[in-house]
Amino acid sequence: MTKQENKQVFSGIRSSGELHLGNYIGAIKSFIELQKTRDCVFMIVDYHGITTPFDPKEIKNTILNVALDYLAAGIDPNKSILAVQSNVPEHLELSWIFSTITPVGLLQRIPTFKEKIRQHPDYVNLGLLSYPVLMAADILIYKAGLVPVGEDQLPHIEFTNETAKRFNNKFGKTFPEVKAKLSEGARIMSLNDPAKKMSKSLGPKTYIALNDSPETIKEKMKKAVTDIGTTGKMTPATENLFLLLKILGKPEHYEEFLAEHKKGTIKYSLLKETLAADIADYFAPFRAKRKELEAKPEYVKKILADGADRARKIARATMREVKEKIGLMI
Ligand code: TYM
Repeated sequence: MTKQENKQVFSGIRSSGELHLGNYIGAIKSFIELQKTRDCVFMIVDYHGITTPFDPKEIKNTILNVALDYLAAGIDPNKSILAVQSNVPEHLELSWIFSTITPVGLLQRIPTFKEKIRQHPDYVNLGLLSYPVLMAADILIYKAGLVPVGEDQLPHIEFTNETAKRFNNKFGKTFPEVKAKLSEGARIMSLNDPAKKMSKSLGPKTYIALNDSPETIKEKMKKAVTDIGTTGKMTPATENLFLLLKILGKPEHYEEFLAEHKKGTIKYSLLKETLAADIADYFAPFRAKRKELEAKPEYVKKILADGADRARKIARATMREVKEKIGLMI
């Protein structure tokens, strides 16, 4: 593997609505750090987005909104490539080739497939089954060595490595080993059910969106579940709130509430009020930047078009190499 391949980062976010604290802490926060020192490609993965029910009238807007969230959070198009997956069709070409070396049984055992079938029993399509194959293509077409993701994506990264190995063994060394990069909050839980990860699919009351107003954050946080009384040990619900406070809150607030919890004098209503105010403060620059960008849709579209051009150059080169290795016509 060359040095340049080692520096390559890829990650993606589905186009399925507004981004929440789980997406931010599990993924975007790492993206912003990594773009300082590495070559990064970040995508709005719309082809993955359409494997679950969607509204054709809305999808364009949803894609643009995810782009706004990326940019407002700090993705710098001068440093990173920001693009829409469907604008780089080479991903699908590589995905097809990978699908020809993937055992179907392996895909059926991937936990996210089983979870999606449970969520959408009337929408069990082939795209859902081959979802990890496209994801492997997303990553490997850039020969990325590092993929910042939340914990839920680990089975997909493992599958990506297996696919790279299978291809390399069959056709000769082409793809690097891929590592997942997990952040401190790699699994942020839902506000109303600490047994489930924070997710768009559980409904807007169960997550805090990056663009929520301070009032909305306060309202949602008020309803977050906590412990009743103190038992000394933190339950998952309280642990989740403390994690949010540690990552997004003012450091002195985290220390203060931790001490109160230890003493058994903590007031959960005050913890939630403080946390809501700190989250609202943390994302104040985000909200301002987003508002500014919302007024310039043409500028955002231009960033995405440039990103797709830059991404396609890399993707085309990999596809040439792949076709050569397989023995197809170029
Ligand atoms: P998606 O769109 O569901 O989520 C985007 C990113 O956010 C992370 N995430 C979380 N992290 C911590 N706590 C949570 N509650 C939480 N919820 C979501 C996800 O782990 C992810 O990193 N399959 C991917 C999209 C994808 C992709 C790729 C990712 C397609 N191709 C290639 C990496 C590389 C997905 O559905 O993410």
